[in-house]
Amino acid sequence: MTIHKILKMGDPRLLKVAHPIKSEHISSSEIQLLIDDLLETMYAVDGAGLAAPQIGINKQVVVFGFKKNPRYPDADGVPETILINPIISLLSNMQEEDWEGCLSVPGIRAKVPRYTKIRYQGLDREGQPIDRTVEGFHARVVQHECDHLIGKLFPMRVKDFSNFGFTEVLFPDLTRAPVAE
Ligand code: NI
Repeated sequence: MTIHKILKMGDPRLLKVAHPIKSEHISSSEIQLLIDDLLETMYAVDGAGLAAPQIGINKQVVVFGFKKNPRYPDADGVPETILINPIISLLSNMQEEDWEGCLSVPGIRAKVPRYTKIRYQGLDREGQPIDRTVEGFHARVVQHECDHLIGKLFPMRVKDFSNFGFTEVLFPDLTRAPVAE
């Protein structure tokens, strides 16, 4: 397994639409190693999520997961998930703004509007279906990660730039802000 360098905003590879993975290809060593590398890289930098394009692989794979942390009681835990070929359905037209950051946009935080309730479907690393209905922080993380698969980074979703800035200025007392990445 390898901890990869994470591409930063400005790299054109982050703007591409990622390719789906054929289900019969999921068990291949190439895809299994990609998943292991994504998880290892995400944990190495203490991220809440990571998408394959962020390590330069233009395939529809995202990983995410976040333990509930008593320092951030508002951010619910999200189970470790490997999600391949995701599809998101909106279950509410309501959007809510909350803080996000991104490993590809280091040092920056912004309030980003996201849909409050979604259903997401896809495949896990065994090729088994995932079908979940989620709200709040979990829904936010999934929308953020799946955006990476269509070439969208969170600054491209910001509506109100009065809530956009440097983490060290916005959250001077926190080593990490409670954000989706
Ligand atoms: Ni991100």
